[in-house]
Amino acid sequence: MIEPATSSQVLEATPDDIRGILDVQNSVLHTNNKELDRGFLWYPLDTEELEEIIAHPESHALMVAKEGKNVIGYFLGYDLDEWQKHKPDWFEALDVPADLKEKIKSQKVFYCRHIATANQRSGIGSVLSQSLQKVAKDRGYNMVLAEVMRKPIENVASIVHHLKQGCREVGSISYSDGTEWGVFIHDLKSE
Ligand SMILES: CC(C)(COP(=O)(O)OP(=O)(O)OC[C@H]1O[C@@H](n2cnc3c(N)ncnc32)[C@H](O)[C@@H]1OP(=O)(O)O)[C@@H](O)C(=O)NCCC(=O)NCCS
Repeated sequence: MIEPATSSQVLEATPDDIRGILDVQNSVLHTNNKELDRGFLWYPLDTEELEEIIAHPESHALMVAKEGKNVIGYFLGYDLDEWQKHKPDWFEALDVPADLKEKIKSQKVFYCRHIATANQRSGIGSVLSQSLQKVAKDRGYNMVLAEVMRKPIENVASIVHHLKQGCREVGSISYSDGTEWGVFIHDLKSE
């Protein structure tokens, strides 16, 4: 059990962290990870994408949890508009109540692209989530939005984790590759 507050820090990622981020990511990618019940990532990031992200900290938040020099977890978040550049049909495919859909369209929404830890139930996931919420709030966002896979494989660990962090599941989204995701929101302005 790692004591997050004392033995680890959450810092902005630098190019020196890319190898460590990829190691954490690759250890939980659904294609590599034999223990899907500890959660998994579906769409990987590559070195080039991470370099680009680190070069533009004003529009991305890539933060690492470190123990000494070792990356033991990370998150990547950015404006929802950025994600919609990757997924042009995103808004149309979003299945949430109409009033919320309007809110998502008109408000500043911070999209959580990845969150991952090297060890499960280390407490680091919670530390990273809280850090992500703080970054989003400090940047003036109204809410954080995350997608968690429901089909073909349910990411139970991530669902439980997000609910525990104060997120609520508000609907779903399906992509043309056949995947279906639960949509989780964390409201920031009400806090
Ligand atoms: C999801 C993830 C980021 C959580 O990080 P973590 O360091 O394990 O989280 P914490 O130790 O802070 O645990 C927070 C809570 O999450 C839930 N949780 C974490 N792992 C779980 C699991 N395997 N099964 C059920 N609940 C789990 C628990 O409620 C846990 O609290 P508890 O241990 O007091 O019961 C981490 O497990 C992970 O990297 N999984 C693989 C990648 C992933 O699924 N990312 C999210 C993609 S949407």
